[in-house]
Amino acid sequence: MKYDAVLVLDFGGQYCHLIGRRIRENGVYSEIVPHDVSLKTIRLLGEKSNIKGIIFSGGPASVFDADAPKPDKGVFDLGLPILGLCYGHQLIARIFGGEVKPAKRREYGSAYVTIDKPVGVLKGLDRKEKVWMSHSDTVFSVPFEFEVLAHTQNCPVAAFRHKEKPIYGLQWHPEVVHTVHGMQMIRNFIFEVCKCFANWKMENVVERMVNEVKNEVGAGKAIIALSGGIDSSVATAIAAKALGDRLTAVFVDHGFMREKEPEFVRDTFERLGINLVTVNAQDRFFEKLKGITEPERKRKVIGEEFIRVFEEVAEKTGAEYLIQGTIYPDRIESGFRRFSDKIKTHHNVAGLPTKIKFKKIVEPLRDLYKDEIRKVAKMLGLPKEIVFRQPFPGPGLAVRVIGEVTREKIDIVRRADRIVREEIEKGGLKDRLWQYFAVLTDTKATGVKGDARAYGYVVAIRMVESREAMTASFAKIPFKVLEKISTRITNEIPQVVRVVYDVTHKPPATIEWE
Ligand code: XMP
Repeated sequence: MKYDAVLVLDFGGQYCHLIGRRIRENGVYSEIVPHDVSLKTIRLLGEKSNIKGIIFSGGPASVFDADAPKPDKGVFDLGLPILGLCYGHQLIARIFGGEVKPAKRREYGSAYVTIDKPVGVLKGLDRKEKVWMSHSDTVFSVPFEFEVLAHTQNCPVAAFRHKEKPIYGLQWHPEVVHTVHGMQMIRNFIFEVCKCFANWKMENVVERMVNEVKNEVGAGKAIIALSGGIDSSVATAIAAKALGDRLTAVFVDHGFMREKEPEFVRDTFERLGINLVTVNAQDRFFEKLKGITEPERKRKVIGEEFIRVFEEVAEKTGAEYLIQGTIYPDRIESGFRRFSDKIKTHHNVAGLPTKIKFKKIVEPLRDLYKDEIRKVAKMLGLPKEIVFRQPFPGPGLAVRVIGEVTREKIDIVRRADRIVREEIEKGGLKDRLWQYFAVLTDTKATGVKGDARAYGYVVAIRMVESREAMTASFAKIPFKVLEKISTRITNEIPQVVRVVYDVTHKPPATIEWE
């Protein structure tokens, strides 16, 4: 079955993924592609889905820049509806010979736009609409074959359309919630203008993923690294539906898991009838990490050892296929949207470069966003502890012990982590936090325990609110809860004498300490 789809050409705007997600929320498939995607690639994508329209995203460039990003001109000849947003709007105006100028005043934030003609993308809207603007270049007049649909005080052409072809431009961002009727504008484009059929439904998607794994693996055997995180858990459940006991899931217990985590993963997946191999590799990992204090080195050693353990199991099972839980943002971020300034190496256990020769790597979740993965997880009956699990780094507690990793230190941070989790959950604060955890610093401090002077560790508590982990704010947790956490940690963990709260946003800090 082919899904109706809208392509989003990425001109570098920060809201690019949001456009894709808004479209998908309406049951229409959407894919983000580079702004200069070739017609050949578009044709190839057209074999997978019915491409019904194209959106040009916003972006930081000016149409006057010498190297202003432009699409392949041929996209205008495909006969598909096109919607330009912000930079995309200015670009269309410029390409067709409209008048674009740097604005007298930069418009940023909420603005009221007057809708002169409520047609097409603007169908059904009020005369005045509250929208979100963020631009400096402005379209002052439309090319001959276009007409103006809306204006603001500073922006005479805030929306336009071609008189004969389904080509539209909006100066504002309908994809952000601050544009009050933004969703209606997007729905108008995908349903009224592109005439899409809403067939991107999670029920269909699950069925398609299961079939895909069946087709790819045929009568062969496959293996997957299962961490207990949501992505690898969903990929495991999908692959098991397709392959039954021809799938082996491998859970490597490196010794840096949170309390009861290995048991939880084992019980959950055994209950789902999945063929699971748990490898207790704790001694190997502790041995390899002896004397290592540098965070990047730690990650590298853990990543490499993980692969060795995984390879050993893979070789024994005789699997020819590797299943991975790579999701859509992983694929985009490591592809054309790669961040050039790598801050930390993320050892993602799902991203295994392995020296074992597999016939093929199968990635059933490669087209899904995180919120879609959550929906699929619920549909597959995965427990809510997995569906709503807070992100946890692949190297686990090893990157939450500053300095050398020892069994004693891992034990301390594990106990502190349990206390933090229990108190946050008891306090009903869990849902507003992205992550909440303890870090064992390598600082020692003086304290008093009982009547005696004590000298022990300092534990730091980190709790953040975030949407996608690219930025985060430290959480303003009630002091009462912090007090409870601090009291319990110092009472229940004899080696700890002091608890501090991390009040740094990201940036400048990162979420994890290492
Ligand atoms: P930072 O610390 O870079 O973290 O702000 C952003 C998000 O990524 C998680 N994280 C990791 N995940 N392997 C992972 O799989 C890692 O090495 C790793 N380091 C950080 C972190 O928990 C946060 O959600």
